[in-house]
Amino acid sequence: MKTPHEIGSHVKGVILSTPRLDLKWMMVEDAPALQEICQSKHVAAMCGSLAHPYPEGKAEQFIREWAPKIEQGDAFVWGIFERSSGRLIGDTMLSVNKRFIAGEFGYIIAEWAWGNGYATETLAAVLEFGFETIGLRRISGICSVQNEASRRVMEKNGMLLEGTTKDSYLKWGVWEDEHHFGLTRPVYEQRKASRGGG
Ligand SMILES: CC(C)(COP(=O)(O)OP(=O)(O)OC[C@H]1O[C@@H](n2cnc3c(N)ncnc32)[C@H](O)[C@@H]1OP(=O)(O)O)[C@@H](O)C(=O)NCCC(=O)NCCS
Repeated sequence: MKTPHEIGSHVKGVILSTPRLDLKWMMVEDAPALQEICQSKHVAAMCGSLAHPYPEGKAEQFIREWAPKIEQGDAFVWGIFERSSGRLIGDTMLSVNKRFIAGEFGYIIAEWAWGNGYATETLAAVLEFGFETIGLRRISGICSVQNEASRRVMEKNGMLLEGTTKDSYLKWGVWEDEHHFGLTRPVYEQRKASRGGG
């Protein structure tokens, strides 16, 4: 395991593999597929900061703009690729607060790929990476109280609901409340040990 100060370039290009998925950095060639995923109104409805309509060229801009942060180890962004087809089915991010050894994740799965357990599989890999590979102390995730699917994904990965905030952000003229989920490394390790995983 690396200390927080070592988080950085040694893992910047890391590929995470799950039973059905490969998580790896996207290339500019992946921008059209990402653009299509982010254009969905149903995806945008659940993401506080995702614009809808999603501006033309935004996905490519995203891929280019995040590259320096990834270089510095301040964030990890992966495209989620379905191994059987090679298709991009979404993306996930772990942003890192080095001072407090903490991370916060987010994810998007293409609407056509919902309900297959892909986000659950993705989050398991991101938690393992965050706790075991880069040694984070705490990992958190936030979702709108209306986002039952995201809530389930976090619960299925053992994340704990730590609180709910009122009127957290304004989406399409409506104030949204948010659930805040978190997990600390001791709890993660304890659970893993009790499952016989280490
Ligand atoms: C949230 C999201 C990532 C889930 O992706 P996914 O690959 O479909 O998730 P999974 O298949 O791993 O798990 C979804 C779970 O939510 C459940 N679920 C889905 N819709 C639900 C709903 N409306 N009410 C209750 N449960 C719901 C599923 O049944 C499943 O739980 P189960 O395994 O216990 O049956 C996907 O819906 C998405 O990208 N949404 C738009 C963007 C977004 O919300 N990002 C997260 C922002 S916090």
